[in-house]
Amino acid sequence: MKIVKSLDGTFTAYSENFDECYHNIKDGALSESLKKHVEVAFKFFEKKDDITILDICFGLGYNTFSTLYYLKKENINKKIHIISPEMDKELVQSLKNFSYPKEFDFLKDIIEKISNDFYYEDENIKIEVKIGNARDIIKKIDKKIDIVYQDPFSPKKNPLLWTVEYFKDISKILDYNALITTYSIATPVRLALYEAGFRVYEREIEGLKKQTIASFKSLPFKEINMKEKKRRSSSQPLRDKDVKKI
Ligand SMILES: C[S@@+](CC[C@H](N)C(=O)[O-])C[C@H]1O[C@@H](n2cnc3c(N)ncnc32)[C@H](O)[C@@H]1O
Repeated sequence: MKIVKSLDGTFTAYSENFDECYHNIKDGALSESLKKHVEVAFKFFEKKDDITILDICFGLGYNTFSTLYYLKKENINKKIHIISPEMDKELVQSLKNFSYPKEFDFLKDIIEKISNDFYYEDENIKIEVKIGNARDIIKKIDKKIDIVYQDPFSPKKNPLLWTVEYFKDISKILDYNALITTYSIATPVRLALYEAGFRVYEREIEGLKKQTIASFKSLPFKEINMKEKKRRSSSQPLRDKDVKKI
């Protein structure tokens, strides 16, 4: 794993297996995690005391750790359960030595515990890193999910986590009010979300690339007319039968 400094000054890494960085270098690892996933998701669950998050996939753990940072920074006192699949056991085991931003300094013990045991629990927080293939792990989740941080490698490099069938499996474990946050704005991804039953929204973020949000319900973002997009576009949604199993 090669360590890479992203433009907000925080460190990410480059994966040789997937030939891609864990974060968008230009957006910055911490900025991307906070602005594209955590902040926007939590705004919709201000009144809910008990929140379950599916963090796809754990990687360097930025989305999970940014969630804990955000709760502390905003003085939010909620019960949070994070379930995060990750196929790379050695990566998680190495995280206790990763150079995280100073914002995560207060999480040192939690990071070490997760890196050693893939698990952390206290009065309010429960984090489960499930080692294995996300496609299998999702099918076994028996709890309703409120938030999905959809953050695999790109659809080109990690297609099995962006197909219609994958999003249909996700849809089965979501609460009606749930939302999916993702950095991808690719048309095949949006078509796959639509075909899996989601409404698809585009969100502009000051200083960063725009993003996609998906939900069953109406949200105050620019909704994409997916019926029209499907009719006009030459793109096709990704499907399991068209992608190589990795
Ligand atoms: C872009 S990185 C995730 C970055 C992470 N969200 C973070 O904040 O650091 C994608 C991760 O997905 C994992 N991954 C790829 N395919 C997977 C699969 N089918 N099941 C489980 N993990 C997978 C990779 O090992 C990698 O760690």
